[in-house]
Amino acid sequence: MLKTHYCGELNKTHVSAKVTLAGWVNRRRDHGNLIFIDLRDREGVVQVVFNPETSKRSHEIASDLRIEYVVKVSGEVAPRPPGTENPKLPTGEIEVLADSAEILNTSKTPPFYINEDTEVNENVRLKYRYLDIRRTRMKENLLLRHRVIRFMRDFLYDKGFIEVETPVLIKSTPEGARDYLVPSRLNPGKFYALPQSPQQLKQLLMVAGIEKYFQVARCFRDEDLRADRQPEFTQLDLEMSFITEEDILNLLEELFTRLVETVTPELKIVKPFPRLRYVDAMERYGCDKPDLRYGMEIGDISDIAARSEFSIFRTAVAEGGQVKGICAPGCAGFTRSQLEEMNTVAKGMGAKGLLTISLGNVPGNLSELTMDMVKSAAAKYLTLEQIKQMAERLGAKPGDLLLIVADKPDVVCVVMGEVRKEMGRRLNLCHPGVLRFAFIVDFPLLRWNKELGRWESMHHPFTSPREEDIHLLDNAPEKVRGKHYDFVLNGYEIAGGSIRIHNSEMQRKVFRLLGYKDAEIDDRFGHLLEAFEYGAPPHGGVAPGIDRIVMLLAGEESIREVIAFPKNQAAMDLMLNAPASVTEEQIKELHLRLVEEL
Ligand code: AMO
Repeated sequence: MLKTHYCGELNKTHVSAKVTLAGWVNRRRDHGNLIFIDLRDREGVVQVVFNPETSKRSHEIASDLRIEYVVKVSGEVAPRPPGTENPKLPTGEIEVLADSAEILNTSKTPPFYINEDTEVNENVRLKYRYLDIRRTRMKENLLLRHRVIRFMRDFLYDKGFIEVETPVLIKSTPEGARDYLVPSRLNPGKFYALPQSPQQLKQLLMVAGIEKYFQVARCFRDEDLRADRQPEFTQLDLEMSFITEEDILNLLEELFTRLVETVTPELKIVKPFPRLRYVDAMERYGCDKPDLRYGMEIGDISDIAARSEFSIFRTAVAEGGQVKGICAPGCAGFTRSQLEEMNTVAKGMGAKGLLTISLGNVPGNLSELTMDMVKSAAAKYLTLEQIKQMAERLGAKPGDLLLIVADKPDVVCVVMGEVRKEMGRRLNLCHPGVLRFAFIVDFPLLRWNKELGRWESMHHPFTSPREEDIHLLDNAPEKVRGKHYDFVLNGYEIAGGSIRIHNSEMQRKVFRLLGYKDAEIDDRFGHLLEAFEYGAPPHGGVAPGIDRIVMLLAGEESIREVIAFPKNQAAMDLMLNAPASVTEEQIKELHLRLVEEL
């Protein structure tokens, strides 16, 4: 090693020790006679003092140093002179008195400050990611990611899981996204698909008798990107044989409780993790990944609304729709423009409008509410009694604001879900130091895709229906519940999993329900159906998304902040400049031809 210590590890116990350090110049201060360098390496920063009286040569070298130069320095650790200590720095009580120095490399002036946590355009950060990772934020996030993965691995080793790698060049496994395809040079006209997840392979490992498998698995999905989605991402993929749903949920609860308590003990978790039925989550929170850090539950006021003279309410209910709302506590004083912004949120999700009822600016009891206090476009069509009933149902009192939508049930659900989320944000209810985990259970097995006019899997086609619902598969597939569970945290889905079908006939039946023809089933999934005929054990599993979990533990808002080299929103790697053109020869070798327009 060119160094004896990390800069950041030095403290008072090292006083008088002779050390050799190597790192980057974080800052340089020239006080004429003395030159001070803050030397930085992975573990932190330490002050190095160059005094011409100690070493003239080192002092000369120090005069040439610039920010981000790479240097090696030897010297003695000394206490800082009284009054010059820096309590903000872990190494702030000491400094290194340099007696020799060597420039290992120079550096151009970086495109942004590495020694400051200033806001930098993300595209610039991504282009110079190697410099961005030198900065504290990214370095700490990657360190946290490392600790999380290490904890997960150790936990699963202790529970008897075997880590198995599965291939990346495979055949398409449907997870609901588009595949990334890789043309085969040796098999003209044929393509590999990159795994959207190792789903079928882990199931085949169960048939193979592995019993408890896990993998820190890279997954590839060609889908529209969002802050919590990347084209390639990492799952803690796991699968177990001879288990029930309960076993997986318990394993997740133990893993995540201990993970947080060990790796990020400063974050508060609420135990035990609640379990919500899918229908209840949709009903109460308007989405299947609710942020439970705050209540503000959605209430159904259709019965009260139907009795009013407000035609929008009456028509909606008469046409089979619903009227639902939430109470925004203390928001009766929202300005016209704030109300308009909420209206825009609702319209953006497909509502015709958002009705607001302001219950007067002065907090008090509901019994004190009078018609004079009420402000609403619908006020003249509602009686005081009706308003009080709605307020009571939604848990409101004077001083609060009701936000209400009347429409078809599915529109009301998504709109109110988004309105609730937006109010949560505006009222700062998403406390960053709190982690609210929850399991969502009892999902329907299938959902109807209106555009394609066919059933599709709620999770994926390998999910087992509940035994007690199997008889409904032929005549009422919408009523069949799947053995599928999601794991959510602070409004994000962080894992999905299920107990699988392990019987060839049942698997074929589900594929058929999903609209696959027999020939296609045999072509795409023949290997799995055949494997199920050789003694497949009952099995199930789950796959937590590591990027999202680390993002939430780090308090970040995008998974790009916890991935070393992510793609940007256009799925481009700005540092490598990928995807990129390739030579005509390479294209020919792959038996491909590009269409003219390109
Ligand atoms: P699912 O598709 O629900 O299940 O994915 C599991 C978890 O992976 C994460 N995730 C993503 N993270 C970042 N970018 C993406 N594009 C992305 N897509 C998904 C999420 C999600 O909860 N094979 C099944 C698991 C199983 O049944 O065992 C699967 O992949 O956190």
